[in-house]
Amino acid sequence: MKLCIIYHSETGNTRYVAQRIASAFDATLFEVRDTASYIQLTRFLVRCKMARGEEKTTITPASLDVSGFDLLVFGSPVWAFKPTPVIHTAIDGLKGCTGKPAVAFSTHGGRSGQTDETFKKWIEERGMLPVAITNIHQNAIENDETTKELVALVQASRKG
Ligand SMILES: Cc1cc2nc3c(=O)[nH]c(=O)nc-3n(C[C@H](O)[C@H](O)[C@H](O)COP(=O)(O)O)c2cc1C
Repeated sequence: MKLCIIYHSETGNTRYVAQRIASAFDATLFEVRDTASYIQLTRFLVRCKMARGEEKTTITPASLDVSGFDLLVFGSPVWAFKPTPVIHTAIDGLKGCTGKPAVAFSTHGGRSGQTDETFKKWIEERGMLPVAITNIHQNAIENDETTKELVALVQASRKG
């Protein structure tokens, strides 16, 4: 079963988790990045407002074709209690995702808010099947138990 992990990460926490999952499986990693420019002073607030409003942005790669994969994993930081505009844009632009099972995880500083249900909604809107959605505190990302739990979640999703 072919697995791909599509993630957004600004400061490395989500990337770290994505890489740990990838190394447990023979997974393909896709990092998506924001190509919009932001004014340093207002960047935090603008990003929170965009995330809160479930807005989209411009990203690279602009679109991913996942038709060659059997299970999709999405990773995002929590921004203003939701997944980020970057991962929203990536999910929205996916090609060949219809009918595929999907797992999503987020990393956060203590309050994930509506992140899990928002992820679920976006996954369903694209015709994928959300099989597991979880969130991880940023202080727990290096914890081996966290990795084991996530790997077990992905493993169970592979078996369907
Ligand atoms: C714009 C912005 C908004 C954030 N909003 C939240 C939030 O609502 N709840 C929370 O627990 N952490 C919040 N955080 C903290 C991040 O979710 C957390 O540090 C995450 O692990 C960062 O992931 P990354 O290193 O992959 O970018 C926010 C961080 C930023 C930059």
